[in-house]
Amino acid sequence: MPQPDTMFSSPVSLAHFYWRHHVRPGDRVVDATCGNGHDTLVLAQLALTPSEGHLFGFDVQKMALARTHERLAAALDAPTCARVELHARCHAEMDQVIERTSVHLIAFNLGYLPNSDKTIKTAATTTLSGLQAALTLLQQDGLISIVSYPGHEEGKIEEAVLCDFCARLDQGLWCVCHHEWPNRKAGPRLWLIRKITQ
Ligand SMILES: C[S@@+](CC[C@H](N)C(=O)[O-])C[C@H]1O[C@@H](n2cnc3c(N)ncnc32)[C@H](O)[C@@H]1O
Repeated sequence: MPQPDTMFSSPVSLAHFYWRHHVRPGDRVVDATCGNGHDTLVLAQLALTPSEGHLFGFDVQKMALARTHERLAAALDAPTCARVELHARCHAEMDQVIERTSVHLIAFNLGYLPNSDKTIKTAATTTLSGLQAALTLLQQDGLISIVSYPGHEEGKIEEAVLCDFCARLDQGLWCVCHHEWPNRKAGPRLWLIRKITQ
């Protein structure tokens, strides 16, 4: 568990804190935006063993998936690494690959890949479709975590869509929570959506 001073130093570290509480070895988890694979590795270390668990990873950039694979292969043993499925496709299509109501956690880390082509970034329409698909994949008590960056133009649009999407979720079925870092430039956010009932 992270130290209290680092626990909410960023939306990503707070997301990891929630994941640690939520994911158990043997769980099925999804990284909807693999990027450099930092989040994927945290998820893999929480959910996978050499004989149990499954991790699905998505990114539209093959280069991102190559970096993710390299990071996982360096840190995990071969049987554990074999429990990871990386898909070079949009996360809006995750429901074409993953069985409904079978997943414990789905993580989105929106925006663009640091130190890479900033024109390739998540977009409001596909993020919305990805979230709609993600809802259908969660099992009871499953969690979606979304790190968002409203500091850039597309991020602002995504944030408005995200806000509207979350506000419309039936409170009898979904528990939604929102964290902000109001004194930080670009004010990143963390959103959590938990499925209360099947
Ligand atoms: C902020 S980065 C993710 C960081 C990553 N989780 C990590 O730990 O390094 C966002 C990633 O989303 C990817 N992306 C953009 N649009 C996407 C889409 N529609 N479906 C899946 N991935 C997408 C980008 O290629 C980029 O690698």
